[in-house]
Amino acid sequence: MSADRSTEVQADLRVGDEVEVEVGPIAHGGFCIARHEGRVVFVRHALPGERVRVRVTEAREGQRFVRADCVEVLEASEHRVTAPCPYAAPGLCGGCDFQHVGLPHQRELKATVVREQFSRLARLDVDVAVEPVPGDHDGLGWRTRVEFAVDEVGRAGLRQHRSHDVVPVDTCLIADERILATGVLRGHWDGEDAVDVVAPSQGEAVVVRVPSGEAEAPTVVEHVEGSSFVADFEVGARGFWQVHPGAAATFVDTVLGMLAPRDGETALDLYSGVGLFAAALGRAVGPDGKVVAVESDPGAVAAAAGNLAKYPSVLAIRARVDDAFGVPRASKSGPNGRRAQRSRKLRRHPLLPLSADVVVLDPPRTGAGKDIVAQLVRLSPRAIAYVACDPAALARDTAYLKESGYELREVRAFDAFPMTHHVECVALFER
Ligand SMILES: C[S@@+](CC[C@H](N)C(=O)[O-])C[C@H]1O[C@@H](n2cnc3c(N)ncnc32)[C@H](O)[C@@H]1O
Repeated sequence: MSADRSTEVQADLRVGDEVEVEVGPIAHGGFCIARHEGRVVFVRHALPGERVRVRVTEAREGQRFVRADCVEVLEASEHRVTAPCPYAAPGLCGGCDFQHVGLPHQRELKATVVREQFSRLARLDVDVAVEPVPGDHDGLGWRTRVEFAVDEVGRAGLRQHRSHDVVPVDTCLIADERILATGVLRGHWDGEDAVDVVAPSQGEAVVVRVPSGEAEAPTVVEHVEGSSFVADFEVGARGFWQVHPGAAATFVDTVLGMLAPRDGETALDLYSGVGLFAAALGRAVGPDGKVVAVESDPGAVAAAAGNLAKYPSVLAIRARVDDAFGVPRASKSGPNGRRAQRSRKLRRHPLLPLSADVVVLDPPRTGAGKDIVAQLVRLSPRAIAYVACDPAALARDTAYLKESGYELREVRAFDAFPMTHHVECVALFER
C-alpha cells in the first residue's frame, strides 16, 4: 500500500461490478488479497497466483477494501481442484472456504496464515506445519455437530457468506453421514429458528429443534481415546464439544505431551467446558495433586460435575474466567454494561489457587486478553498450554505472554476443520 494514502487513487467499485485481478496472498479469514487500480479486494473462491474475474459482493462507504467472489478463473493455480460440494460456490453456502483447493495445499495456506499472525502480532517467526487430525483421509464427513438454519418456508439449509440468508441444501459433504441420515434436510421445520444435529462418538445422531420445545436440550456421551487417557464425557447436545471426531483425543494428547504434568502438581484448566482437559490433568496429577477448572456455561459445568466425579483432585468452578480472577470484564455491552460492571465488586474466587504448576487455556475465539494473561503470569506456572481456535487471538496473547517473560517453546497446528479456513493451534509457553 502506498505511503500517502490520502492521495492514493482508488477504483470506485460497487456491488455487482466485475473486474479482472491477479490474486495475491492468502489472508486470515478464508480469502485472498488482490488489488484493482489501488483498491484492495478480498477475494473468496480464488487462490494465490491466479488470474481471475471477480464480482464485488460488498463495498461499504468509507471502507478501503471491497469483498468479491471469483466468478471466472482465467489462469488457474496448480492447487485448484473441482469443489466436491455443489454448494461451495459464489452466492451459495458460506461454510466452506477451501473446497476448491487440494487438501495438502489447504493445510499449507493455513500454515501461512498462522505464521503470518505470529509474525505480525507477536513479532515471532514460527516454524509450523498444519497436521491432519488422525483418521481424516479426504477432509469430508468429519463434522459431528451442525446447526442448520431454517428459511421462511421451513426448509433446513446453511447460511450464505456474511449473510443471514439461508441457502436450502440437500447435502453437506463435510457433515458426518449420520447427520444426513436423520433426514434433517428433507424435513419441514416451520416455526423453528434452526435445527441442531449432533452425531456423538457412538450411536445415532440426535436432532434438536432451536428454540427447542423441550426445556432442556438432551445430552450425548462422547468417548475420548487418547494415547494415555481414555474417558467418556457427557455433553449437552447444544453445548461445546470439538466437532472433528479425532480432535478431542488429539488435543488432549498434545497438551499432556507439552505440559508433562507430574504427580502431586497443581493445574488450572481455564475455559474448561465439560472438563476434557481437567479430567486428563486430574488423572495425571493423581489424588495428591489439585486441578481447578473454570467455565461459565451452567450446562457445561453441570455436565463437568458428573464427568469429573471420579477424579478426587479436580474441582470445577462455575464462573467467567475474568470474574474468577477478579478483573474487569472486557465489556461489549456499551455504557450500561460498564455501569453495571462498576457496581460489581471485583473479588478473586476463593477457590482459585494462588499458584499453579501448569495451566491449560482454551478460550473462545476472542482469546484470553491482556488482563487474564497478567493474572496467569502471577500464578507463576512452569508451563502453559494454549489451545486456540483463532491464530490471531493466540498471536496477540503470545505477545502479552512474551512481555511477561513467557517464551513460546512450541506450536502445533491441526486441520480440525478441513475445507474451511479454520485451524486449531496448541502452543506451549514456558517461563
Ligand atoms: C473453546 S471452548 C473449550 C472447552 C473445553 N476446553 C473443551 O475442549 O471441550 C471454550 C469454552 O469457554 C467457555 N467460555 C466462554 N467465555 C468464557 C468466560 N469468559 N469464562 C469462562 N468460560 C468461558 C465456553 O462456554 C466454552 O465452554
